[in-house]
Amino acid sequence: MSERPMNEHELTVVVLAAGGGTRMKSKTVKVLHPIAGRTMIGHVLAAVRTLEPHRVVAVIGHQREQVATHVRELVPDVVLAVQEVLDGTGGAVRVAMETSGTSRGTVVVATGDTPLLEGESLRKFVADHRAAEQAVSILSGIVADPFGYGRILRNDEGDVEGIVEEKDATPQQREIAEISSGILAFDAEFLVGALPRLTNDNAKGEYYLTDTVRIAREDGLTVGAFPIDDVAQTEGANDRVQLAEMGRELNRRIVTRWMRDGVTVMDPATTWIDADVKLAEDVTILPGTQLLGATVVAEDAVIGPDTTLKDCEVGAGARVVRAHAELSVIGDGAEVGPYARLRPGTILGTRSKIGTFVETKNAHLGDGAKVPHLSYVGDAEIGEQANIGAGTIFANYDGIAKHRTKVGRWFRGGSNNTFVAPVELGDGSSTGGGTVVRRNVPPGALAVSGGPQRNLPGWVPSKRAGTPQAEAAEEAHRGPGRASDDQGGGH
Ligand code: UD1
Ligand code: MG
Repeated sequence: MSERPMNEHELTVVVLAAGGGTRMKSKTVKVLHPIAGRTMIGHVLAAVRTLEPHRVVAVIGHQREQVATHVRELVPDVVLAVQEVLDGTGGAVRVAMETSGTSRGTVVVATGDTPLLEGESLRKFVADHRAAEQAVSILSGIVADPFGYGRILRNDEGDVEGIVEEKDATPQQREIAEISSGILAFDAEFLVGALPRLTNDNAKGEYYLTDTVRIAREDGLTVGAFPIDDVAQTEGANDRVQLAEMGRELNRRIVTRWMRDGVTVMDPATTWIDADVKLAEDVTILPGTQLLGATVVAEDAVIGPDTTLKDCEVGAGARVVRAHAELSVIGDGAEVGPYARLRPGTILGTRSKIGTFVETKNAHLGDGAKVPHLSYVGDAEIGEQANIGAGTIFANYDGIAKHRTKVGRWFRGGSNNTFVAPVELGDGSSTGGGTVVRRNVPPGALAVSGGPQRNLPGWVPSKRAGTPQAEAAEEAHRGPGRASDDQGGGH
């Protein structure tokens, strides 16, 4: 990469992600915790992407394999810099610069745990930094409670003189409300020269990246701080309480954005929408709904109440009520629920229907096909306009392998059927109630199974004598004007 022609506009972004995040008390390193459908570092990298940087360097340390694998998935050409000893943010950036061979242009340093950060804020910050031609720029913020942050030190003229960390600050300095977000922009040449000059002679015994500000001032270079209005964007989640708070805030922002873009959300407080979900105008979302992962919903669809869709595609005008669906496609005008479960591989055609207490998996429904009640549809191909009877089970598993069932167009099924796969029911065929289909049904045929009904008169009084059931039967025989049907025979 260092062979690439260099120029002053070259942009390198360094994302610090070596820390473990002790306060999360987790097997999972902090930056890999999920929030709004991405990891924390996933949100930061999405914001970084909008800068179109020439290179992205991620500094990894704790759980480096897991972090490296994840970051590579999101940014395939990322430069991974391993920080063996966590000796501070200055040490981390030094490793980043050495590993990537960066020596020119602009270097932006961000941290991997600020999930609310937006690309637009980074862009504005980089533009301000470049316009001011500064050695170092700080993305700062005015906060109500500055505890824990580095404070921005300004002189009487208001010029930035340095950053002092919480632990090193005097009581007076701790009163300063302007804090460093930890996001800094540098002239690369200055940064390369300043990093070896950092010392760890401070309260934490670390090499502080923030000390580069003082070094720049000593060298007579200009530094500046640009306060961000929306300080939440630079806040990090350090424990699970903050993670939940930030998750709610991030969700509030996402839901608000969709409402502004023409989506009706009846109850924003109980609606959860992941960052990568896409919604069309005039989608309606009813209370208690979660739209997760890469879910896409087309116009006029109504989702909810109480519905979870993960990685689903919902067609225009579809209606999904009290459903739990994953990796499924719901066609235009289709109806799902109430109380339906769509498992991966479900594809529902236009105006098809999955009704109440129906579970599907790897099932394709043709246009207008219906499974209205109480059924399991696994590994099936159902032709257009077919109607599956109430309580039909697609028995797809023989204990060893899964098999498919094919149901033809305009099939009409009786209630309480079992289709033992692999089996085919032809176009325009039918089944009677209670049929167990083990052999193929030709097109147009009616399949019935099981013997005709037999009634054994007097079976209960003789075999269950003395029970309330037998008494009821005897009363029925004795009682005046009470008809009884023991003629036998079925149909
Ligand atoms: C840092 C800043 C502080 C700022 C605050 C904003 C310094 C010295 N201080 O303080 O001015 O107000 O962030 O949140 O920079 N990291 C590494 N390697 C290390 C040390 C840290 O990769 O050796 C990473 C951490 O994983 C974390 C980030 O750098 O993502 C910040 O480190 P942290 O220890 O949290 O610094 P703060 O004390 O919060
Ligand atoms: Mg921190």
